[in-house]
Amino acid sequence: MTPFANLPVACLRNPQARRDLAYDDQPQQWLSLSGTAAAWAELHQWSNYQPTPLRSLPEIATDLDLDQIWYKDESDRFGLGSFKALGGAYAVFRQLVDYVQTATGQTDLTAADLLSGRYRELTQAVTVTTATDGNHGRSVAWGAQQFGCRCVIYLHAGVSAGREAAIAAYGAEMVRVAGNYDDSVRQAAEDAQAHGWILVSDTAHPGNTTIPSVVMQGYTVMVAEVFDQLPPDQLPTHVFVQAGVGGLAAAVCAYLWERWGRDRPTTIVVEPDRAACVYATAQQGKLVTLEGDQDTLMACLSSGHTSTIAWDILRHSSDWFITIPDEAAVLTMQHLAHPRSPIVGGESGVASLAGLLTVGQRSDLRQQLGLTTTSRVLTFGTEGATDPEIYQKLINRSALHI
Ligand SMILES: Cc1ncc(COP(=O)(O)O)c(C=O)c1O
Repeated sequence: MTPFANLPVACLRNPQARRDLAYDDQPQQWLSLSGTAAAWAELHQWSNYQPTPLRSLPEIATDLDLDQIWYKDESDRFGLGSFKALGGAYAVFRQLVDYVQTATGQTDLTAADLLSGRYRELTQAVTVTTATDGNHGRSVAWGAQQFGCRCVIYLHAGVSAGREAAIAAYGAEMVRVAGNYDDSVRQAAEDAQAHGWILVSDTAHPGNTTIPSVVMQGYTVMVAEVFDQLPPDQLPTHVFVQAGVGGLAAAVCAYLWERWGRDRPTTIVVEPDRAACVYATAQQGKLVTLEGDQDTLMACLSSGHTSTIAWDILRHSSDWFITIPDEAAVLTMQHLAHPRSPIVGGESGVASLAGLLTVGQRSDLRQQLGLTTTSRVLTFGTEGATDPEIYQKLINRSALHI
């Protein structure tokens, strides 16, 4: 554990955090517990739905002198390997339902109706598209394949061949874009506009908020599962969650805010120090776009800009922002792969636990965040070995042998 104590970490108290503000008093509520209930009801009917495990990490809790650490292990979500399976595929489903209902006048269509093939002729005329670092694209492609529409996925230059192959396996057409993630987002939006495709984006921009909010509503099902799995008298005192564009962190914070109001846990948003767009946004109090390529090993967190609706939520509901180096993720992956209680965590997947491990051994930061021997900490293991080759290179062992 000692190596973590020497890693560089930046820590910022959210200057705009507002515990006094009621969830209903926001000018706009992008997510809701009733939306979570609707997504939960739908996703529970999908044939391969299973809640993912909530793992307790007692040895690490003892090492860090904390009461409890939980790790929501998304490595086997829908067989896709990440929590993202809950968002993009759910949004594709909802878009196709709207399309078919408008075309046929039917109401209350379900996944079973679409899967029956009865509406294939209609859904085949639809094309969904998105830009991705990997996992979101896999979710959208999987949703498109299941529910019967065409799918075109945009990848930037830094996305590995392994991630590309994993998306293409769901029948998506792949387009490589020169430049960084933000360049691929721009290209997907332009092409969607030009061809009349549905842009199933996980990042909101002004004028493009509806579908990203459905994607994020899908993520809240993971949070609801956690509180179904936890003993009711053992609510977390702290929640660490990683951010790329901030959609996941905002989904977590919105859920906690609406459900527990001012009594919600302390929330800590964790980012790679090479792609800390949410941190920069919080620091400047307004949306900031980072220059450069945000080249981090935590590839799925590589983004230079924050989703607008994610920031709308995080602005008042998140308490802290921290940044960690790539090395923290690698050390955490190795730590989790230890034979005593092995867990397969991917580079971006372990980031929130890496954030806890990085701050957890420094008395100054512990004190600031209120981490004590009675703290119960929830972290999100958002992906498994979604690129098995990279995993093997970093851990020196195949994920299959963990
Ligand atoms: C595994 C994993 N974890 C976390 C995130 C971060 O989610 P967001 O971009 O919504 O902040 C992503 C995004 O793709 C991801 O793939």
